[in-house]
Amino acid sequence: MSLETEFLGDWERTHTCGSLNAEQIGQRVLLMGWVARRRDHGGVIFVDLRDRYGLTQIVFNPQHDAQTHAKADPLRSEFVIAVQGTVEARPEGMVNEKLATGTIEVNCDQLRILNVSPTPPFLIEDSIDTGEEIRLRHRYLDLRRGRMQNNLMLRHRAYQATRTFLDGRDFIEVETPFLTKSTPEGARDYLVPSRVHPGEFFALPQSPQTYKQLLMISGYDRYFQIVKCFRDEDLRADRQPEFTQIDIEMSFVREEHVMGIAEDLTREMFSRLRGIELPDPFPQLTYAEAMDRFGSDKPDLRFGMELKPIAEAAQASEFKVFHSVLQSGGQVKGINAKGCSTFSRSQVDDLIAFAQDAGAKGLSWIKHTENGLESSIVKFFPEAAQALLIGEMDSEPGDLLLFVADKPSVVARVLGALRLEMAKRLGLIEGENWKPLWITEFPLLEYDEEEDRMVAIHHPFTSPLEEDVDLLESDPQKARARAYDLVLNGNEIAGGSIRISQRAVQSQLFELLALTPEEASEKFGFLLEALEYGAPPHGGIAFGFDRLVALLAGEDSIRDVIAFPKTNKAVGLMEQSPSPTEDKQLRELGIRTAL
Ligand code: AMO
Ligand code: AMP
Repeated sequence: MSLETEFLGDWERTHTCGSLNAEQIGQRVLLMGWVARRRDHGGVIFVDLRDRYGLTQIVFNPQHDAQTHAKADPLRSEFVIAVQGTVEARPEGMVNEKLATGTIEVNCDQLRILNVSPTPPFLIEDSIDTGEEIRLRHRYLDLRRGRMQNNLMLRHRAYQATRTFLDGRDFIEVETPFLTKSTPEGARDYLVPSRVHPGEFFALPQSPQTYKQLLMISGYDRYFQIVKCFRDEDLRADRQPEFTQIDIEMSFVREEHVMGIAEDLTREMFSRLRGIELPDPFPQLTYAEAMDRFGSDKPDLRFGMELKPIAEAAQASEFKVFHSVLQSGGQVKGINAKGCSTFSRSQVDDLIAFAQDAGAKGLSWIKHTENGLESSIVKFFPEAAQALLIGEMDSEPGDLLLFVADKPSVVARVLGALRLEMAKRLGLIEGENWKPLWITEFPLLEYDEEEDRMVAIHHPFTSPLEEDVDLLESDPQKARARAYDLVLNGNEIAGGSIRISQRAVQSQLFELLALTPEEASEKFGFLLEALEYGAPPHGGIAFGFDRLVALLAGEDSIRDVIAFPKTNKAVGLMEQSPSPTEDKQLRELGIRTAL
């Protein structure tokens, strides 16, 4: 761009672009910002000047100042300018009620063009349908949009509210290392090679879990940190390879103390930042009950459509698919999609395909109409079985009943997903409706087929329920954990547990996870040793801060509340990371790539 730009010189801002109103009429002001829009009306140039505080209309009138008007002629979107002029009331009929500065305009008599810009690749406006890739590629422009600025400002207020709240409850903020050893939270580690120790690696922490426990052993009693965590895992709208936690740990506590603090913090954030009053206390469901009724360990309670067992009707029927599943120890369950008996054949086929994608062998359906039950499988249901079915499914004319028969984990997964899908299709989860709840009594361990060993469902430092400790010997998979997750509208926003504070129990758990004593000592020797030196009973929790802010902001993706997020393929599109590095650097690190 050949247009000459000017220096700022000694000009100083007197106001921001969001601050002027009728009170300043008649005053001389100096504003700086970006040209959001430039219009020509009958020879007069109007510029909407934007900064993060708002928009102000600047007028370049040739009758008022011909020279400045001429200078304003080349102004285009996203030029950076400084203007001096007088605040004036807008002419009658020109007042913009929607704008904080909508009653005034600045009649400009001095202009400095501080910088120019090519036409941006997308409009700097709130609602654009530009693809996310282009937005991320030019994130610095995307972040100029009011919507993104509001999100980041909300995030800022959420940090401050967190710190004020936790400081007020005697928590102290402590930083813990990023260059560290593997901290298992179920994902792969990001590794950092050591130049000083060739062939050796730091792992970036998946969470500060071990450090916060060590701080309890050190007597810090109440710790928190707003901290980055790093996990190499499959990404989604609510998952990033680096994300932020509000990490909390407390000593001399049971579940209710940690959960109480987490609830109070959540209520405080919603009340303070959004004026939303959440219930007190939050309801609780055990893991078993949540899986049974909602097919999910993070149920969305904004609508019903619970999973119902139809064991009696299935027994009384002559439907072989249901019988054989029941005989082999499986389940038959259904959901009742109220008012959906009008679904067309292709709509139902769509649901069947959805269920199969989710892992079902099939999906059986029955329409309940004014003429009774209708479906190709109704012939297998004698009248008595039909009556049982209607009772078990709480069905009435107009309903569409959807059934899955399989082992319990598949039934839960498929019907849980179908329940959410139906709610989306039926618009049952629109509008402001906030349903927090706790999930408690998770299983401690689960069998991982790929690894052919037991893995911790939460993490390996989670304590079993006191009454289940003996099960670690006899039937470890039955042992329940002192773990709790906080769920809001179907999102897991926090998770934590009471920890193992006895060295012997921690060793026993490592054994169950198929770690040899040597491996345990190599990986977690420091923690095992520290547990010997007077570890207090302790427990904690961590919030997914990005998820919390996304919910507060009403955004579906956490990428919209993170300044510079990665894509779902874990790349930084703007800075083009990751990227190959120089041979020299690799040599220094003692690394050769095998590609
Ligand atoms: P957990 O692994 O459950 O627990 O993580 C806590 C919370 O962090 C959020 N979260 C994520 N957010 C964005 N992207 C990700 N990849 C991601 N992974 C997790 C979720 C989750 O609830 N150390 C334990 C906590 C403890 O026991 O105190 C931990 O990290 O909202
Ligand atoms: P099939 O025996 O595979 O022809 O299936 C007969 C009917 O039962 C079809 O409508 C299938 O969609 C349904 N079906 C098959 N397997 C299941 C299952 N596991 N759960 C529910 N319905 C099923």
